[in-house]
Amino acid sequence: MSYNLAIDGPAGAGKSTIAKKVAKKLSFIYVDTGAMYRAMGIFFCDLNIGSDEEEKISEACSKVEIQIAYENGEQQVFLNGVNVTGRLRTEEAGNMASSISIYPEVRKKLVELQKNMAASDNVVMDGRDIGTAVLPSAQLKIYLTASTHVRALRRWNELNAKGIESNLDAIEADIADRDYRDMHREISPLCQAEDAVFLDTSDMTIDQVTDKILELAAERFH
Ligand code: DC
Repeated sequence: MSYNLAIDGPAGAGKSTIAKKVAKKLSFIYVDTGAMYRAMGIFFCDLNIGSDEEEKISEACSKVEIQIAYENGEQQVFLNGVNVTGRLRTEEAGNMASSISIYPEVRKKLVELQKNMAASDNVVMDGRDIGTAVLPSAQLKIYLTASTHVRALRRWNELNAKGIESNLDAIEADIADRDYRDMHREISPLCQAEDAVFLDTSDMTIDQVTDKILELAAERFH
C-alpha cells in the first residue's frame, strides 16, 4: 500500500513550493500535475492548434505521450520523448493548460498516468482535482488557498526578483480569470473535497504552512 497526500487549490496559492518541501521531509515523490497539463498545452501550441479546437485536440491526444522522470529529486516532463521542463513555467503555458484542461480526452489521459504513479509510490501530488477525482482515497487531503490579491502580489514579487517588470492589476485579473475557468469547467472543476483540510495561507509563511501539513501527515500516516 502507498501513502498519498493530495494538495489542491487555485493558481498561485503556493501549492508547488509547499508540496515540494513536504515531500522532501516525508521522503515521498512530489508529483506536479499542473506541469503535465502545461506540457499537453505546449504540444497543441506547437501544432498550431487553438485552445478552442476541441475536435483537433481530442484527435491529437492519441499522438501524445507524456512521461515523468526524476533527476536529483526534480520532476522532469517528457513530451513525446523530449524534455520540455524548461518551457513549462510561462504565463502562456499556464493559460493554455487551463484552457485545454476542460476537454475529457486530455483529462482522461493525464488522470490515468497520475493514478498509476500514486498506486506504486508514496506521493505528494498537487493540482486542482487530486482530492476529488484522481486520489479520492488519499489518506490526507489539503485545500490550499489565499486571497486573489495576495496570490497576485506573490507572483509580482517573484517576477520582480527576476528583474521582470509586470503590472499587479493585470496579474490579479489574470489569476481571477484562471480561477473562474478552473472552478467552472464541467469535468472535475476545482473545489474542496469534503474531507479536505482547508488552509488559507494569506497570512502564513511557507514554513508555517509546511509545518501544519507535516503535523497532519504525522497523524494520518502511521
Ligand atoms: O498548477 P498549474 O498552474 O501548473 O496548472 C496549470 C493549469 O492546468 C490549471 O490552470 C488547470 C490545469 N490543471 C488541471 O486542470 N488539473 C490539475 N490537476 C492540474 C492542473
